[in-house]
Amino acid sequence: MGTIDLYQGDILDVECDVIVNAANSSLMGGGGVDGAIHRAAGPELKEACKPLAPCPTGEVRVTEGFDIAPRLVFHTVGPVWRGGDQGEAELLKACYRHCLEELIKRDLTSIAFPAISTGVYGYPANEAAGIAVNTCRDFAKEHAVKITLTAFDQKMATALEGALDQP
Ligand code: APR
Repeated sequence: MGTIDLYQGDILDVECDVIVNAANSSLMGGGGVDGAIHRAAGPELKEACKPLAPCPTGEVRVTEGFDIAPRLVFHTVGPVWRGGDQGEAELLKACYRHCLEELIKRDLTSIAFPAISTGVYGYPANEAAGIAVNTCRDFAKEHAVKITLTAFDQKMATALEGALDQP
C-alpha cells in the first residue's frame, strides 16, 4: 500500500510533508542531523521546542519547520546504545512507530527519517537498519504513506539496502 525509498544524502533535500529529527530529550539542538535541521529551520525552531521539552526516549514532539516550511518537524529521541540489552530495540521501534502514527493523525502522507540513533548514540548500523525497515514496512502495509529512509554515509546506505533486500 505505502512505499519505502532509500535516499543517500542530506535529509533537508528530501521533498516531503515531515522531516524527522533525531533529537535529544532537551529538544534544544545538538550536532549531527539535529544541528543541521536547527540551522536550516532557524532560531524560531528552538523557541518552538522549549515548551515541548523534555521529550522521553521513544516519543515524538511536533513543531512547524519555520525556514524549512511547509515541512513540519517531528522531533523524536532515539535510545543510546548500551549493548543491546537495555530495551534499545523496542525504544528505536517506538520512535519510528510514533512518528508514523503522528503522520496519519495529521492527514499527511510523506515523511523522511534519518537513521535514528546511529550517529552520536552509537546504535549499530545493521541492527538499526533492520528495525527501521521492518517497522516502516509493517506500517506501510496498512497505510498509503510515502516513507523515505535517509542515509548520510555509505555505511548506513549499505545497511539500509541490505535490510530492504530482505523479504
Ligand atoms: N541528513 C541525514 N542524515 C544525517 C545528517 C543529515 N544532514 N547529518 C547526520 N546524519 C545521520 C548520521 O550519519 C547518522 O547516521 O543521522 C544519523 C543519526 O546521527 P545523529 O545525528 O548523531 O543522531 P543520534 O545518533 O540519534 O544521536 C542523537 O546527537 O546531535 C545530537 O542532539 C542530538 O544529542 C542528540 C544525539
